[in-house]
Amino acid sequence: TFTTKATLSNLQGVVPDSLFVNDEKFIFLRDGAIIVESGKIVAIGDYLDIKSQLQAEDKEVDYSGKLITPGFIDSHMHATQTSAVSAYGEKLLTWLDNYIFPGEVAFNSEQSARREYEILLKQLFKNGTTTICAYLPSSYDGADLLFEITDKYKMRAVMGNTIMTDGNPKLITDGETSMLISEKLYNKWHKTNRLSYALTPRFALSCTDESMGLCKEFVESHSDAYMQTHLCENVNEIQDTLAKFPWAKDYLEVYEKYGLVHDKSIFGHCIHLSDSEWKRMTEAEVIFANCPISNNYLGSGLFRYDEAVKRNAKLTLGTDWAAGNTLSMLRVMDDAYKVAMLNSFKLETLTRWYSATLGSAKALALDDYIGSLEVGKEADFIVLDPEANELLNYRLESSYDLLDYLFSVSSLGDDRIVAATYVYGDNVYTNSSN
Ligand code: GUN
Ligand code: FE
Repeated sequence: TFTTKATLSNLQGVVPDSLFVNDEKFIFLRDGAIIVESGKIVAIGDYLDIKSQLQAEDKEVDYSGKLITPGFIDSHMHATQTSAVSAYGEKLLTWLDNYIFPGEVAFNSEQSARREYEILLKQLFKNGTTTICAYLPSSYDGADLLFEITDKYKMRAVMGNTIMTDGNPKLITDGETSMLISEKLYNKWHKTNRLSYALTPRFALSCTDESMGLCKEFVESHSDAYMQTHLCENVNEIQDTLAKFPWAKDYLEVYEKYGLVHDKSIFGHCIHLSDSEWKRMTEAEVIFANCPISNNYLGSGLFRYDEAVKRNAKLTLGTDWAAGNTLSMLRVMDDAYKVAMLNSFKLETLTRWYSATLGSAKALALDDYIGSLEVGKEADFIVLDPEANELLNYRLESSYDLLDYLFSVSSLGDDRIVAATYVYGDNVYTNSSN
């Protein structure tokens, strides 16, 4: 058992106890504490109340002056692309061909996969991310290894072998083999500890008709599995998809025909959607994984946050590492704000924090476990130290309320202000300079 305590010395103005977003109440404790036991939150409240519940042998960790928040959920990222981050000057399809696919071929050796994935997890924790929805290697051994390492850190994660049956000859397998791999990984890892399996057809362009048909059968017989893929990210991608599947009136219909559009489906990007696609997707209650840093990096386009909010879409945020060239969900929140601004839409501060935490957990139906700091939930939380960034600290001196404070933290914050990260109660990262 240990408790952890934080106060916000920097926040001088009048602070409400709670704020609302989507009928959801955000509670702010000026001097709060959490009791953690066996990976779970067993008490949370004002420090003085919590202190009275402590036993003599309990360990107390003091984060006075800092802010404890739920760990971030990155709802779309590629675990196989770390070596290809910051490839220069290409848009989606040529970026995939020239940098990503060759990099993923190299990732298929056990030695480089292990080393690269350990580096990636370390960087995720440094950035305050505690849950990922990740695309894994296409091979059984490669994907199994990454499940195993993720499990070692007791992380909550949604992951699957990337299914590719069409395209780069060095990466593709046939449909039957992909499904055998999927089946084996599902049986071994789905609902094992904190892990969930996601059927992961990369996107329509990298799958044959036949393998999409097999995906349909898989989804029908494994209705508790997630599905993740890419949709309407880039205009050339959309053109090529419609040329490849000429019977489809739009991109979404390709996935609809193969039974992949449902409430456990995570669609990456969703930038260039027609009115009809928006409508069908929100009716099916799909999960929108929006990745503004990647979209800006690859020049893919501007996600319509105004539409998503208006339609009450299940909005989550992702880095799309490594097309997104940062793992910081704070930076993602900042780009989401800027992208919305380019459409003259003000994306509320709390909507962005929500989409990286509880909103994302709810969209993924994981909110019984993660997303907020409540009794009974798993102890995935981070400690932010805005004072570690001199400029942010200076800006916060003039913050006028809690919302403005959170706005500035998301606007100017990055990994430098993450003081510590806890996964299932384990301190997986401490910033030695805080
Ligand atoms: N579409 C298909 N594969 C990928 C990928 O690896 N990254 C991105 N951003 N889009 C994709
Ligand atoms: Fe992606």
